[in-house]
Order: sequence, then C-alpha cells, then structure tokens
Amino acid sequence: MMSTPPPRVAVLASGRGSNLAALLDARARGELAVEFVLVGSDKADAGALRLAEAANIPTLALDPRSYPDRPAFDRDLFARIAASGAQWLVLAGYMRIIDGAALAPWVGRMINIHPSLLPKYPGLHTHRRALRAGDREHGASVHFVTAELDGGPLIAQARIAVGADDSEEALAQRLLPLEHRLLPAVLNLLAVGRLQWRDDAPQLDGRPLLAPLLLAERGLQAAE
Ligand code: GRF
Repeated sequence: MMSTPPPRVAVLASGRGSNLAALLDARARGELAVEFVLVGSDKADAGALRLAEAANIPTLALDPRSYPDRPAFDRDLFARIAASGAQWLVLAGYMRIIDGAALAPWVGRMINIHPSLLPKYPGLHTHRRALRAGDREHGASVHFVTAELDGGPLIAQARIAVGADDSEEALAQRLLPLEHRLLPAVLNLLAVGRLQWRDDAPQLDGRPLLAPLLLAERGLQAAE
C-alpha cells in the first residue's frame, strides 16, 4: 500500500534557531513525520539558516529594507513559501509581525511558539514581564497564528516554576529545553492528523480543543 508522503513544512526564524534545531532533531529521531521544504528568515546571518543549510534544506533570506513596506515584504515572502509547496508553516523564533493579508490564507495551517503562558504577555520581553509581575509560574505556548499578534487559539503549553532569585536569562534558559519538546510534539500532532483546524478552531481527535494540552514528562497530556 502506497504510504502517504509526509506533510511539507516551511519554517520562519529570525535568530539562532534552537527551536528549528529541536524540530530537526525530533525528525532525525523518527519522532516527527514531516518533510522540511524551506527555512526562511528576515536576517541573512540568522543561525537558523546555517542549521538549514547543514541539513540540506532550501533556505530563503529576504531583507525587509529592500521593500517599500511590510505588506510588500510579506507578499513576496509568503509567495515564495507557497511556491515551496509547504502545507504547514511554523514560526520558530520569528521576530516580525506579519501583515494580515499575507497571513490570511495560512490561518489554520500556521503555528507559532511564544515564550509565555498566553494570553499573558503577548509581544516581547516575556520573561522580564513575568519576573516583574512576581509570577510564580511561567512557560511557553504553541498556538495557531491569526491576525492577532500572539493571540491565536492555544494548542499546548509547557509550565515552569519561577525561582525567587531567577534572572531573566536563567528563566529563559530553563524554559528553552521545554520549548524544544513542546514545538515538535505539537507539529507531530498536526503531521499525523490528530490536530486539525475545523470551523475556525482547533480540534484534537475530532473534538474541539477547548483548553491547551500540557507538556508532561511523558509528552502532551489533556488539561485536567
Ligand atoms: C525562543 O524563546 C522562542 O520561544 C521565541 O524566540 C526565542 C528564540 O528562539 N519565539 P530560537 O532559539 O531562535 O528558536
């Protein structure tokens, strides 16, 4: 029986690409049934592009300064993502806000990882904001991307305790390994068809996903 080809995935990243590395590692371990068809960036010197090159994945670097405005940049970027044949798009440390018109065709096929327990702290400097608020818990979220910045429906979260003397760096460093387990686990749910986008909302195993899954020792678990 012909096996169905793995879903084709494009990734956007602006920086070092540790989340991309986690995706590539999960795939290499046989834990992520996808084919990466493109890694794109708004930074030609992004470490994520070097990781992609080393993995023989096609790369794309577009310089926003070469475009008259955000819509023009995003139109070109997303046209090339579509041309790559990607069926899913993952934002893995991508630091640009995306124009709504470019985004619209991808709603339901695009996920993002954000280092906070959304809906708390959309935007930047999440670890600093959690510390300043005196939060006892912090974490990361993977959500479907919609036009609302960091506001799309939640899929899964990883939680960590905040230490009394945690610095912003210490908190970020302690959270990162959980991000590296969370993102591949969510992408794999999409890849195997358990996680779907139906009627403008996430469904897991055919039922509305009303609360984000939680990352536990043994993987993603339904929220209590
Ligand atoms: C990560 O904390 C991710 O959650 C955020 O950007 C940070 C860097 O990501 N979006 P990476 O190391 O470049 O994957």
